[in-house]
Amino acid sequence: MTVILGIESSCDETGVGIVRLGSGGALELLADEVASSVEQHARFGGVVPEVASRAHLEAMVPTMKRALASADLELSDVDAVAVTCGPGLAGALLVGVSAAKAYAAALDVPLYGVNHLAGHVAADTLQHGPLPSPCLALLVSGGHTQLLLVDDLAGKITEVGSTIDDAAGEAYDKVARVIGLPYPGGPPIDRAAARGNPCAIAFPRGLTGPRDPKFDFSFSGLKTAVARWVEARERDGEEVPVADVAASFQEAVADVLTAKAVRAAGELGIGTMVISGGVAANSRLSALAAQRCAEAGITLRVPRPRLCTDNGAMIAALGAHVVAAGVAPSSFELSADPALPVGTVSV
Ligand code: KG4
Ligand code: ZN
Repeated sequence: MTVILGIESSCDETGVGIVRLGSGGALELLADEVASSVEQHARFGGVVPEVASRAHLEAMVPTMKRALASADLELSDVDAVAVTCGPGLAGALLVGVSAAKAYAAALDVPLYGVNHLAGHVAADTLQHGPLPSPCLALLVSGGHTQLLLVDDLAGKITEVGSTIDDAAGEAYDKVARVIGLPYPGGPPIDRAAARGNPCAIAFPRGLTGPRDPKFDFSFSGLKTAVARWVEARERDGEEVPVADVAASFQEAVADVLTAKAVRAAGELGIGTMVISGGVAANSRLSALAAQRCAEAGITLRVPRPRLCTDNGAMIAALGAHVVAAGVAPSSFELSADPALPVGTVSV
């Protein structure tokens, strides 16, 4: 039995998770504590890196203490430390990496620098067990929108497609601002959309033309189309139908994401799809994905919302997979890599 501590600090969430790796490779989630600085960024409409770094510094030790208490463990029970070393905000990542080094050195246990994006996929194994190989992951967050071919969570992940401009979550956050909803925009748009008509406005579906790249995404044209539509209404002195705009925008995002992901699974001959990242918490995305995956005979796995958004448990889970695969630990020279490629699962 091995107890793995996971530390996440790539954006505005300070996460500490603890996972127990059983002898058969089974994972047991023992703790998942998150401190968020999201409220400090809200008035800026996006994450302010310096503010996030300082908040991580202040939250790290209290979050660690809460995680150990909720797992009913002492620091001395920890057998390995995993930490997000990229991609993400440089200063924010450095706080987590420095803390992880300190804990690993003090406890004399191995240190594993791991990839945040692979961590989002690993989160699903905490809820639904081991992933079949291969599987397709649709990763949709505030910073990333990618289709990933996952042959081995501990080592072989290949990008099949990605956004060429905004991430899906970024589009949610920017559109929320345009229609007067708070930051982060995903949850309030999701709620407003429930009262609106998804067919009210025909917003564009980016990169879906016959000559466009099949598995890449674009959301910047959609974001601009929503802004222009709202501006035209305001210029004419008409009220903006927030619920209809939210529902129509959300439909365009969910339509493109699910259509491309299902097509990729079909063309690559993959029978299981995982959707993770903050936007996977979206009600319409999961409903449409469930419908289209069922039609295509694909098994769909979406972790519960708490595991979709940034957290330390996903990093502990990925660390456990890496430990179980016998991958060598990181050196204490480990540094943060804000642009760590998705194919580099551990450093
Ligand atoms: O994965 P995450 O917590 O952080 C990053 O790694 O970026 O994702 C945050 C993003 C934000 O853009 C937020 O607006 C979006 O996830 N989000 C949602 C929902 N909940 C969070 N987007 C759509 N619908 C939701 N229910
Ligand atoms: Zn994330």
